[in-house]
Amino acid sequence: MSAVVIVGAQWGDEGKGKIVDIFTEHADLVVRYGGGPNAGHTLVVGDQKLVVRLIPSGILREGTRCVLAQGMAIDPASLVGELDELGRRGLLHGAGSLVVSDRAHAILPYHVLVDGLREQTPQALGTTRRGVGPCYEDKAGRRGIPLGALRDMKRTEELVGRALAHWGPVVRALGGTAPSVREVVEPLRPIAERIVPLLADTAKLVERAVRDGKRVLFEGAQGTLLDIDHGTYPFVTSSHATSGGACTGSGVGPSRIDWVVGLVKAYLTRVGGGPFPTELLDATGERLRQRGVEFGSVTGRPRRTGWLDLPALRYAVRVNGLDGLAITKLDVLTGLPELRICVAYDTPHGRVDELPIDDVASARPVYETMPGWTEELGAVRAMKDLPEAACRYVERIEREVGTPAVLVSVGSRRDETIVLKQPFGG
Ligand code: IMP
Repeated sequence: MSAVVIVGAQWGDEGKGKIVDIFTEHADLVVRYGGGPNAGHTLVVGDQKLVVRLIPSGILREGTRCVLAQGMAIDPASLVGELDELGRRGLLHGAGSLVVSDRAHAILPYHVLVDGLREQTPQALGTTRRGVGPCYEDKAGRRGIPLGALRDMKRTEELVGRALAHWGPVVRALGGTAPSVREVVEPLRPIAERIVPLLADTAKLVERAVRDGKRVLFEGAQGTLLDIDHGTYPFVTSSHATSGGACTGSGVGPSRIDWVVGLVKAYLTRVGGGPFPTELLDATGERLRQRGVEFGSVTGRPRRTGWLDLPALRYAVRVNGLDGLAITKLDVLTGLPELRICVAYDTPHGRVDELPIDDVASARPVYETMPGWTEELGAVRAMKDLPEAACRYVERIEREVGTPAVLVSVGSRRDETIVLKQPFGG
């Protein structure tokens, strides 16, 4: 098994950082294929903590190469900032450990400006305000700036001029002031000098690695329900967060992918606006937020919390073709006397067992109740040692969505994990 895709099966923030880290231990190459600085995870090295938004955690492992592939939207200034921070802490392992696609698109200050201004209007979506949406708009509008353009700053200047001709009126209509071409390009020059040496045709590099039998981990960002095509549109991000995005976003054909793992939090969270049928607005929701430390790592926003949604998970299994589930944060449920679990939806057209993605607003969750447990789970390393109710909860998920658990996380530490199947079959 050489090519493994790991995707969020919910609305993102499924505890990806820890699981990706565990999988990365077995990987030669880690490839991020979508999204940009809207993602974020905390790296813990000894007693040091730092939040990275673009660079995969694999950067911390000597011998693991990290790729930022062409499906990404990359803010050059953020990328250089992250590299500087890693360098200052002595965590960068030599040249070649990070390769950046010359076809990934640049997020520039006017993208961030537009994203922020739109968030102040009644049409706000609750974005992370990192300029990701406007950058992808430019890409689809064929006026974007692939990072390869930074090799020729004259060309970059022309492209920025073209983009600003589009964004100038938009910014004015939103009550802001657009920067001039010079204001965008001058600060970019020293940044470009740092980025250009990292650029490569990563599609070729990744495909070659897969073909050579290297172990390649494709790291998804955000989650299935935030996918531009498959999410709760328009409350979505602007990229392909599902497993198919691993192919389009990195340049590797679907026949090369061996295994797709979905990350599933044992309950549910969402940040930003949009429907969330199993949301808990009561003390139980607050308890999940506090115990699960459910605050955004990019924006610090409190995450909305709710009960596990099996119909949404069935949907994620289908659109991602999930082979296995990595169930996270099971320990957060300890102490709840009973657990509710959404098993179906009642819709105007009858009861359905999959989330009706186009009409979530008029769907009403159908719940069943399961017993809770009181034991702390942090020391458990095998399913047989879980309290019976916790074991039943996991088995219920597997049975209901027809997909086995490959890993169950019972605490934030790396060793607080039940590994049921080794990534890459190792
Ligand atoms: P954007 O990606 O910043 O445009 O935000 C669009 C939507 O996706 C908003 O609801 C954000 O809260 C959400 N979002 C973007 N990135 C993440 C993430 O990494 N985790 C969870 N939600 C995210």
